[in-house]
Amino acid sequence: MRRIEATHSRPRKGHRASLEEVDRDIRSFRESSGARRLVLLNTASTETYQKLGDVHETLKGFEQGLDRDDDRITPSMLYAHAALRQQVPVVNCTPSHAVDIPALLEMAEEMRVPVAGRDLKTGQTLLKTILAPGLKARALGLAGWYSTNILGNRDGEVLDDPECLRTKEESKLAALRGILEPELYPELYGDFVHRVRIDYYPPRKDNKEAWDNVDIFGWLGYPMQIKINFLCRDSILAAPLALDLLLLSDLAQRSGLRGAQDWLSLYFKSPTVKNGRPIHDLMAQRHAWEDGVRRIAGWRNNGRNGNGRNGKASRPR
Ligand SMILES: NC(=O)c1ccc[n+]([C@@H]2O[C@H](COP(=O)([O-])OP(=O)(O)OC[C@H]3O[C@@H](n4cnc5c(N)ncnc54)[C@H](O)[C@@H]3O)[C@@H](O)[C@H]2O)c1
Repeated sequence: MRRIEATHSRPRKGHRASLEEVDRDIRSFRESSGARRLVLLNTASTETYQKLGDVHETLKGFEQGLDRDDDRITPSMLYAHAALRQQVPVVNCTPSHAVDIPALLEMAEEMRVPVAGRDLKTGQTLLKTILAPGLKARALGLAGWYSTNILGNRDGEVLDDPECLRTKEESKLAALRGILEPELYPELYGDFVHRVRIDYYPPRKDNKEAWDNVDIFGWLGYPMQIKINFLCRDSILAAPLALDLLLLSDLAQRSGLRGAQDWLSLYFKSPTVKNGRPIHDLMAQRHAWEDGVRRIAGWRNNGRNGNGRNGKASRPR
């Protein structure tokens, strides 16, 4: 990123040398803390937009990219690689790709490490994934969804750079299409316009304010509008998700799960999943989460009546 200055940076010595340093940091943290199990949570600033290319495709290609210091390999990918090498689960709370590239997902499977991401779902996208399934259930059409928000913390300062904002936009835009399935309902959702704006506005600090204007249409194509004004606190919304993810990733590791953890999609704007087809609907994500916990606990999936605590269950993906 370009909008903030690093105060504790290390001189750039190349990817392999950086990996060794992160590797040493993880080991020394393990020793000094006395912790037997670790989880790496990526909560670093959003990186500038990175279009994925051949170096991100396979683990072999990625390793070769490390050797030649390929600049398409970003710091968040290096952190993820170092953690996976030590079989530390990785959670990506940010919109940066980090572990969410085919090469590192392959490594997670190979090293038998669970991973989850991308970009915590805390504000406007959370509301979108609550409201959009309701509109769809009632077959209300969507002409457009305009979202704008202001925030004044350091995250907002970093996102003031258009190249970082582009990374964030990419993760924010996917949810509506995933939920509304325009390919199945072209008359209702084939043509909607979706815009997302974020403005850095220092006086508000960590108190974010978000506005949504939703242009819907009903019977006979009659146009109507919904307005949402969400006044929220970024850290209060994000911190409990980070804590849940820390505990659940460790649980996944202890249960022998590996690779992308689809059942943790509930927490993310742009979920990292095994088959490349994420679920965005919040209630569907919540059911997948419950099923995941039940299966780890060995409880039968009981059609979510909440009363079956016996029988064998298959493990979550
Ligand atoms: N509600 C939320 O807080 C929320 C929701 C979803 C996603 N996120 C994402 O989480 C990330 C962090 O948000 P925040 O509000 O905590 O930001 P922040 O600016 O308060 O903290 C980010 C920290 O990362 C550090 N950093 C930057 N590059 C680094 C690097 N290469 N290595 C190590 N540290 C580095 C920065 O110096 C800073 O201390 C952002 O990507 C943000 O978009 C936050």
